[in-house]
Amino acid sequence: MSSANGNHKGKQQRFPEGKHGDSLEPATGIQAFHALHAEDPSKIFFTEEDKKKIAEFVSRYPAKESAVMPALWYAQEKFGWLSIEAMNLVADAIPMPRADVYGVASFYTMYWKKPMGKTHLAICTNISCMLNGAYQLYDYVKKTYGIGNGDVTPDGLLSLEEAECLGSCGTAPAMQVNNYEYVENLTLDKLKAFLKERGLER
Ligand code: FES
Repeated sequence: MSSANGNHKGKQQRFPEGKHGDSLEPATGIQAFHALHAEDPSKIFFTEEDKKKIAEFVSRYPAKESAVMPALWYAQEKFGWLSIEAMNLVADAIPMPRADVYGVASFYTMYWKKPMGKTHLAICTNISCMLNGAYQLYDYVKKTYGIGNGDVTPDGLLSLEEAECLGSCGTAPAMQVNNYEYVENLTLDKLKAFLKERGLER
């Protein structure tokens, strides 16, 4: 991953207009963060143990700011996504300017600035994957579930992302699930079987 996973789109845009013509997130930058903020702030806090973990990240680097990526990752794992409050916690725990934390979080798509689906599919449509049928797969999810780039189904079970290179070009097309799991040599049948296995068949 070139972001911790090599997967990034433009700075300030979590989901810029899709290459396939679907524009799904109107606002960008910090206004978008606020617009998307829907978490109860009282539930967003770091325990002493969390603070120790962030301190441990900081201790790994010559410059404390370098800990921002593992710290954001830790916060996302804890809270599910990165609200403004979660990013502020990270900034204060390191400590470093909040704006710098927003800048890092907004640059990398693996950091979710809004709640995503229980199953989040990042389907790569870069050159190797595109040439091996990635758009057939992406379009299948898009049309079958009525979601586009950065969208979540109304039941919150599935979200879709048109991803940049996932570093799996030799086994294209590739899909990343929930930022961790890779599905390679993907075919439409394999994708349908995957969705069925997750109880998401339609
Ligand atoms: S182009 Fe899809 S993984 Fe590299």
